[in-house]
Amino acid sequence: MNLIILGAPGSGKGTQSVKLSKELSFAHISTGDMLREAVKNETDLGKKAREYMQKGQLVPDELVIGLIDQRIKQKDAERGIIFDGFPRNINQAKSLDKILNENNKSVDTVINLETTEDVVIQRLCGRRVCKKCGAIFHIKNMPAKIEGVCDHCQGELYQRADDKEETIKKRLDVYTKENAALMKFYQENKKFISLDANHDADIVYKEILDLVNDYNKNTSRAATSA
Ligand code: AP5
Repeated sequence: MNLIILGAPGSGKGTQSVKLSKELSFAHISTGDMLREAVKNETDLGKKAREYMQKGQLVPDELVIGLIDQRIKQKDAERGIIFDGFPRNINQAKSLDKILNENNKSVDTVINLETTEDVVIQRLCGRRVCKKCGAIFHIKNMPAKIEGVCDHCQGELYQRADDKEETIKKRLDVYTKENAALMKFYQENKKFISLDANHDADIVYKEILDLVNDYNKNTSRAATSA
């Protein structure tokens, strides 16, 4: 099963994808994480991507699509994939369909995390991420047991460079500009479900897991009766 999680910056895509990928043993493909890693390691891609990310703009499609093409061929993607932060526009969505098709895969479900702007701004301003393992925390909503220290690996927690109020606003503008067309594309072409993601993270997680389990039950029932 291959799943896309859509949603505004701060809607909880990363938080939900990490938990779900562990539960289902699916590959978690986050273009944001891959790009931040490239920036950190100062690779050619990272050098090209840095400026766009600092400004809250999208990195050019061809750079991001190249990442996906390589990543979905890895062994951990055989059982299933959760796409987090990809695709971001129609061009990326069409490219994803093409790449998956070439690898005998397809998009099975698209889950859209709906949030309000005041909620995502509060979430992004308080987000802290582990430098070592990438675990996501929030100073109020999901605080670490020891301030500034990761619960899982004791790594140092930091604030993402693009989580400054000015850049957050730019990221939300970019999202608003691209998202309506992207949602329309998936509403017309794929199984598209919207969830209210303003709720507590555990409630949202349960709703996503129920959807995935229903999908799997229906698919295996259809396969048995065929
Ligand atoms: P990316 O890393 O994808 O960032 P984003 O889409 O802006 O999303 P975020 O990671 O900010 O938010 P999230 O929805 O994952 O929320 P999270 O779970 O962390 O992209 C960054 C940049 O890279 C882009 O601006 C662009 O430049 C580039 N890029 C990436 N992909 C690209 C692509 N495909 N094409 C072109 N460019 C690309 O949660 C946020 C906070 O809220 C956390 O602190 C968390 O603890 C808390 N929280 C989560 N859920 C809840 C809840 N239910 N209740 C309370 N708090 C919650």
